Amino acid sequence: MAKVLYPGSFDPVHLGHLDVVDQALELFGHVVVATMHNPAKPSGLFSLDERLAMIDEAVEALRGPGRTVEVLAFPGLAVDAARSAGVDFVVKGLRTGGDFEIEQQMAQTNHVAAGVRTVFVPCKPSLVYISSRFIREIAQYGGDVSAMVPPSVLLHLQRVTGRS
Ligand code: PNS
Repeated sequence: MAKVLYPGSFDPVHLGHLDVVDQALELFGHVVVATMHNPAKPSGLFSLDERLAMIDEAVEALRGPGRTVEVLAFPGLAVDAARSAGVDFVVKGLRTGGDFEIEQQMAQTNHVAAGVRTVFVPCKPSLVYISSRFIREIAQYGGDVSAMVPPSVLLHLQRVTGRS
């Protein structure tokens, strides 16, 4: 078994992310979920601390014997989070070819710059359409995102958007 870092914006965490955590637990047994800043997505809905609290609630159901999940917020580079957490490598989920292009470039950069390896897991086909960006947009206009997020995240979205 191995210990892996799953970094992301998680603004907010959704069912697609939780599927990646679930797959990574099945494959490796120990996952450190790191909520981080993506400089390409500066206008977040939730603070890093709020995202961390939502992830911690959402992953509780995935924990069990031989299935360890740690959650942390890290404001710096993913490779520094990987070093500080002492993981064997980084794991990322791939939804589409578009994801692959971005993720491959990040994986190669992180390997060349810091020697940190990345492995990809394919997202469950029934969940590939889910994105945090669209969840934020729909929730801000009062739309229904209950099929895309766990119930705890739905409550946090309703709180910050003032919609129910
Ligand atoms: O969920 P996202 O937005 O696709 O996650 C992207 C994220 C946060 C993992 C990426 O932006 C990241 O690694 N940010 C930390 C800063 C960093 O390490 N940048 C160098 C990338 S090669």
